[in-house]
Order: sequence, then structure tokens, then C-alpha cells
Amino acid sequence: MAKFIGKSKLNAAVFISGRGSNLKSLINFAKKKISPIKIVLVVSNNKEAQGLNYAKINNIKNIVVIYKNKLKAEKKLLGALLKYKIQLICLAGFMKILSKKFILKFEGKILNIHPSLLPNYKGLNTHRRVVENKEKFTGCTVHLVNTRLDSGKIILQKKIKILKKDNENSLAKKILKLDHQLYPRAIVKFLSSR
Ligand code: GRF
Repeated sequence: MAKFIGKSKLNAAVFISGRGSNLKSLINFAKKKISPIKIVLVVSNNKEAQGLNYAKINNIKNIVVIYKNKLKAEKKLLGALLKYKIQLICLAGFMKILSKKFILKFEGKILNIHPSLLPNYKGLNTHRRVVENKEKFTGCTVHLVNTRLDSGKIILQKKIKILKKDNENSLAKKILKLDHQLYPRAIVKFLSSR
């Protein structure tokens, strides 16, 4: 971590769609001296996203990009990313699939947090499927985004044991807490290794 002290922080954008608890934890992390990133832009595809409030109260520039037309939406996105000189994109509960073209433009610069131990349980409803399959462990993963869903290089994972009394909801709660610890640590690890 000491590696970043004194260096200028990278400009990061966080993409959200809803609640934004990971955004909140990333904002808190980015305020710290040891953080290698500065969050300069928050993007939401949903104007009602609760997470937008965290951007507003922290005076972070935020934009809503409506995804009626993917091409148009991504053109607007690209414009904003260039304007704010974004060097790292953190997807945090962003529910839209970015186009191949967009991903290739930012190859190696987009991270995502996923609520399972990838490569297991890609896609949606991870906790439900984990419980249905009577798995013994679950967790969350921060990975690089490539053009295949939830398939990029794994940066960091956190694993927990599933208890007999656990269900979809209890796992969702526990794993969200882990998300908040894991994402900042994964960002530090990722940027230290470049
Ligand atoms: C989390 O479960 C995260 O792992 C997944 O989407 C959810 C986002 O939650 N990628 P929040 O909007 O950050 O609270």
C-alpha cells in the first residue's frame, strides 16, 4: 500500500444501477491517503438508483445514461470517460452488459465485483443457486472484465463457509459485507501489480 503514498491518484469511475453500497464503500476508501484512486465520476443507467445519492452528497460528478439504445448510451459514456480522464472503471452492481467494442477500448482497465466464487456461479441469482446446490462455501470475487460474462482474470476472492441455517437472504447480507472489504483491497492489489 505504501507504494501509492505521494503518487498521484488514478481517476476512477464507478458504474452502478441501484443501491450503491459498494459505491459508498469505495468512496470512503478513496478518501483515504493510502487509496490509489480518486473517484471522479459515477455513472448510473437508472435515474432512480439510490447510489446516486452517495455521489451527490460527496460532490462527485454523476451522470445517468439511459440504455434504450446501447450504441448511443455508450457514445455518451465514452464522452464522459474522456472528459474526466478516467483511468480505471469499477463496475459495482452495474446491471448492463457493456459492448465488446467498449470493453476492448478499456481493456485491462475495467474491474467488476461478483457475488460468487468465480468461475463458479457466473450470472444472476448466485446465492439462490448456491443454496439449491447445497454448496459448502461461497464468497465474492473481484475480476477484470473481458468480453465474456464474469470470465476475466480473477484479482482477489474472499471465501466463507455456508452454515446449515444460511439461506439466500443471509448469504446475500454476509457477502455484501465481504464485498465492501474486498473491492478496495482488490484495487490496491491490481494497481500494485501493474
Ligand atoms: C452486489 O451483490 C455485488 O456483489 C454485485 O451487485 C451487488 C451490488 O450491490 N455485483 P450494491 O448496489 O453495491 O449495494
